[in-house]
Amino acid sequence: MDKLKIVGGKRLAGEITISGAKNAALPILCAGLLTSGDLALANVPHLHDVRTMLKLLQQTGLKVSQDGEQVTLNGAAIDKLEAPYELVKTMRASILVLGPLLARFGEAKVSLPGGCAIGSRPVDQHIKGLEALGAEIRLEGGYIYARAKKLKGARVVTDMITVTGTENLLMAATLADGETVLENAAREPEVTDLANLLVAMGARIEGIGTDRLVIQGVEALHGARHEVISDRIEAGTFLCAVAATGGDIVLKNTRSDILDAALDKLREMGVILTTGPDWIRAQMASRPKAVSFRTTEYPGFPTDMQAQFMAVNCIASGASKVTETIFENRFMHVQELNRLGARITIEGNTAFIEGVEQLVGAPVMATDLRASASLVIAGMAARGETLVDRIYHLDRGYDQMEVKLSQVGADIVRIK
Ligand code: EPU
Repeated sequence: MDKLKIVGGKRLAGEITISGAKNAALPILCAGLLTSGDLALANVPHLHDVRTMLKLLQQTGLKVSQDGEQVTLNGAAIDKLEAPYELVKTMRASILVLGPLLARFGEAKVSLPGGCAIGSRPVDQHIKGLEALGAEIRLEGGYIYARAKKLKGARVVTDMITVTGTENLLMAATLADGETVLENAAREPEVTDLANLLVAMGARIEGIGTDRLVIQGVEALHGARHEVISDRIEAGTFLCAVAATGGDIVLKNTRSDILDAALDKLREMGVILTTGPDWIRAQMASRPKAVSFRTTEYPGFPTDMQAQFMAVNCIASGASKVTETIFENRFMHVQELNRLGARITIEGNTAFIEGVEQLVGAPVMATDLRASASLVIAGMAARGETLVDRIYHLDRGYDQMEVKLSQVGADIVRIK
């Protein structure tokens, strides 16, 4: 199993190019199931989760050709309407094939994803929404069996805001009979990116970017070209790294307008930010100031940035309070950060952090994707050597993080 060896205390300087967004690429690849035409996608990141999704899609009969970050999909010969447990258990986003398969072919069999490290994460809202669109759904032997000759438009109000739930229902509704209204829809930029692609494929969607999506179903969708939006969480992670180590970095192929909540907190920490249409420059010359926040749905502070900001808070001046409202168990990095000398205590869904002058390197264990990123940041700020184990979590969602960080001066190597 690969590990990362990090020697802390290096100041960062230089340029990093941000990759396409994992959480936009995954639903967008599933949209390839909705048409017999070609989907030509650009800026698709090189990630383990993307490879898993392509494997899953290929075994339905979807044709995939790939040239670097360009991926072309063709869904003219799909003949297996199934997502098996072996693949779904490794990646929850596999549930995103359910809506498209059902809408285009009238049936689907998809394994129920289990719980995962950050919480129980049920898919009841995906099921409730598809039932509202007229699907008959049966759960048996760990699988979702869904059937509907033709989905029918309906008004769906989800019990909570769900990102992949919104994406699944949005894709299904594009091919339903009549009008579907999705109330309480997720407004994440990745949902918007998917909606824009669907429109390019011939879907009729109003309210894109709002919490009320109105979809007029069409008979069929056609092929399209699309460039996947840049990864705001990858960008935010590198900005946290510079907040923790000090330095001066420029992120390219990125957007500041979809990162507002995180950028505000970085400014509060003392980071000097300047931005252009597709770049962000971050300069940090002092010890960061501690910042308190609570995670909420977009445009609020993203849960996917909580762990990385907590790593910076560990070495900040002052005390802070971080409340996680989206997932019930997303504090597994806390024990590991404390192994590096951080002072964090947890009460319910709130972590209290007392900033220390210095963390000290130690062997630590990654437990999930964003927790791994927080350990890398902490290791880069710590004195001495930190060894981060189980970095397969990191590879699921970051494209060669250690290479990008080495390019700007971090002392970080992968040990096979
Ligand atoms: N929920 C339910 N029932 C449902 C759906 C969701 O109870 O049917 C609950 C979840 O358990 C959670 C909350 O609603 O407590 C929100 O979950 P959501 O469905 O929005 O999460 P998701 O769609 O499974 C996506 C991202 C996550 C990100 C969350 C929140 C993808 C592939 N994944 O997950 O990304 O944290 O939205 O923004 O888009 C990551 O990249 O590290 C990651 C975990």
